[in-house]
Amino acid sequence: MPVILGLSGSLRKASFNTGLLRAAAELAPAGVTIEIGDIREVPLYNADEEAAHGLPEAVERLQSQLSAADGLLLATPEYNNSIPGVFKNSIDWMSRGDGLKMFVGKPVAVMGASPGGFGTILSQNAWLPVLRTLKAELWSEVRMLVSRAGNVYDDEGNLADEKSRDALAKFVKDFAAEL
Ligand code: FNR
Repeated sequence: MPVILGLSGSLRKASFNTGLLRAAAELAPAGVTIEIGDIREVPLYNADEEAAHGLPEAVERLQSQLSAADGLLLATPEYNNSIPGVFKNSIDWMSRGDGLKMFVGKPVAVMGASPGGFGTILSQNAWLPVLRTLKAELWSEVRMLVSRAGNVYDDEGNLADEKSRDALAKFVKDFAAEL
């Protein structure tokens, strides 16, 4: 019964990427759970704060979810052809304390949605050196890139397009089969 921790790198209410993650959770095959983690309360990383107070509660919560999960699914927006700062900041915090070992060998899948024509391909690529440094196991058999997102979501940020939902269902099924 694999459990996957899903994280979205957007704080936007009608986020395409949070919507993609929500749809992934809905479409996960029977017996597979995608637990959606929350990066909203993660502060900006500050080594002085860490030295004085240790890890923030929100980070400890994410770490325990990661530790308990069989895999990690990142829904990444693309900002200026790379990873949004709020998302990288959350993963940086999660790698502190005992966090690093929670990433080692963890299967990770990366997906993303963008209103542009390239569907977060550069942002997904930008995760590669991060995941390598964390010694995570990138699963890269299937790509999940949603481009022209404005055409495939409804106004609340739900993935509405059947073709995209089918592709997502296959992506999740194939990733979960590796766990
Ligand atoms: C963007 N956006 C964007 N899109 C893209 O495909 N490539 C890019 O390089 C960028 N760069 C970029 C920079 C900044 C600072 C912002 C705020 C936005 C557009 C981005 O894909 C769009 O805002 C998405 O809606 C963000 O994802 P969520 O919030 O919908 O999940």
